[in-house]
Amino acid sequence: MAAGHTGAMLATIGVLSVLSASGSGPMADVEAGGEAEWVEPWDEPWDGAVFRSPSALGTVGVAQSRGSQRPGKDLPVLLWWSPGLFPHFPGDSERIECARGACVASRDRRLRGDPRTRALLFYGTDFRASDAPLPRLVHQSWALLHEESPLNNFLLSHTPGIRLFNLTATFSRHSDYPLPLQWLPGTAYLRRAATPLQERAEWRRRGYAPLLYLQSHCDVPADRDRYVRELMRYIPVDSYGKCLQNRELPTPRLQDTTTATTEDPELLAFLSRYKFHLALENAICDDYMTEKLWRPMHLGAVPVYRGSPSVRDWMPNNHSIILIDDFESPHKLAEFIDFLDKNDEEYMKYLAYKQPGGITNQFLLESLRRREWGVNDPLLPNYLNGFECFVCDHELARLDAEKAHAASPGDSPAPEPHIAQPSHMDCPVPTPGFGNVEDIPENDSWKEMWLQDYWQGLDQGEALTAMIHNNETQQKKFWDYLHETFMKRNQNL
Ligand SMILES: *[C@@H]1O[C@H](CO)[C@@H](O)[C@H](O)[C@H]1NC(C)=O
Ligand SMILES: *[C@@H]1O[C@H](CO)[C@@H](O)[C@H](O)[C@H]1NC(C)=O
Ligand SMILES: *[C@@H]1O[C@H](CO)[C@@H](O)[C@H](O)[C@H]1NC(C)=O
Ligand SMILES: *[C@@H]1O[C@H](CO)[C@@H](O)[C@H](O)[C@H]1NC(C)=O
Repeated sequence: MAAGHTGAMLATIGVLSVLSASGSGPMADVEAGGEAEWVEPWDEPWDGAVFRSPSALGTVGVAQSRGSQRPGKDLPVLLWWSPGLFPHFPGDSERIECARGACVASRDRRLRGDPRTRALLFYGTDFRASDAPLPRLVHQSWALLHEESPLNNFLLSHTPGIRLFNLTATFSRHSDYPLPLQWLPGTAYLRRAATPLQERAEWRRRGYAPLLYLQSHCDVPADRDRYVRELMRYIPVDSYGKCLQNRELPTPRLQDTTTATTEDPELLAFLSRYKFHLALENAICDDYMTEKLWRPMHLGAVPVYRGSPSVRDWMPNNHSIILIDDFESPHKLAEFIDFLDKNDEEYMKYLAYKQPGGITNQFLLESLRRREWGVNDPLLPNYLNGFECFVCDHELARLDAEKAHAASPGDSPAPEPHIAQPSHMDCPVPTPGFGNVEDIPENDSWKEMWLQDYWQGLDQGEALTAMIHNNETQQKKFWDYLHETFMKRNQNL
């Protein structure tokens, strides 16, 4: 089940379609940005002189270093511990060539105890403290890939949880291999021409609302429906998904989510009739931005956004989205949207980034230029393979540092431990989308669910206090829980 879920999520962003070389993922109709280029993270050439004693590797069919300058030396092994994410076909092990040298990537769990296995790679959604591979071996780094929100695993939003790992690839700009722009194919995607205002005005005359809401995942940590429900009291919203639905999509084909994906051209054409799209992420985390934000911009609608608190850092210019949290109430927000809806000149200022030279945010442009992976771009590496090479390079460097230290402890210090930081998965405690948690009844489904899911191991009463006062006391509670399920087990093995 976990593997199936993994496949579905990564397929959404085209990673799997690239892996299977089909090049026709769900976003294939999107113009690729063409801004990215391969950046070599290391300047130094790898000397490759790593000695590892022979072991079971050969017997399980791992590729040996072939045609290398140093025959007989074995390569460091990176073991994908999470099932279903191994980015190589068709075998279980494959030699990979990275900037600093070569490694062997494998999903053969029998290699876990092998001295050459230098890193275990985990997918965050699948990771559970209670079934982690223990005891932990000191020479092995743990590498975490978790591009999703904490919705699928809150363990990683707690300091002791994220600090189990050494290397991360998350949505955060602070992670070791950052993926904040994982849903943005490139600047061309943003520049696509908007549907003309006259056409949209015609739809408004036919009874369509200014605002669109399309959401079928209702009880999420960000509690977005509670906000949208309140907003609907002050301004018309056409809501088509399962959440707060008040309207049907125009054709049976579009209504059927199995035939019309969210990147379906006919669906996109329909959505582009709306001037404003409610764009609320499923969880509030710094740098967690998804297609909910970028798709309306692609279509020339103005996102009415709640999600990453630092979203402004990534916007094409400083006047391209409406931030829900800039408004003191849903009522005030509704008034502002209504004002823009009636004032074309002010509205069009929000689309200025579509004009030549309109994308002025150098941080955004530079980040797109520097990332080495593409979004559904068959010509560029995907970030799964990219992260694998990042880990390979890191481990080769660490091996070199260990070797230098062994040869001359006085001149070369032992490599420092590298440990993931809370900023790599910066998702504060979920709070209600509108109002105070104390005022929401105990039987509210959002409250019930997130009290349980976020504060794993705490009882309801403790969880509620924790939610209201997220503080060190509570962090300690969580640490105790982790200690029970992980640390203690690790020591006893
Ligand atoms: C947005 O950027 C423009 C041009 O750089 C600047 O003049 C303006 O003051 C900025 N506005 C805000 C709200 O930061
Ligand atoms: C990996 O992280 C753990 C903490 O979770 C730390 O004890 C260990 O030294 C780190 N290992 C490396 C190789 O950095
Ligand atoms: C929650 O409890 C109240 C009474 O306290 C009741 O009126 C309401 O229907 C309940 N809601 C749900 C979802 O069970
Ligand atoms: C921390 O949370 C506890 C409840 O678990 C509360 O009693 C305490 O006052 C809180 N401390 C601070 C500094 O907020």
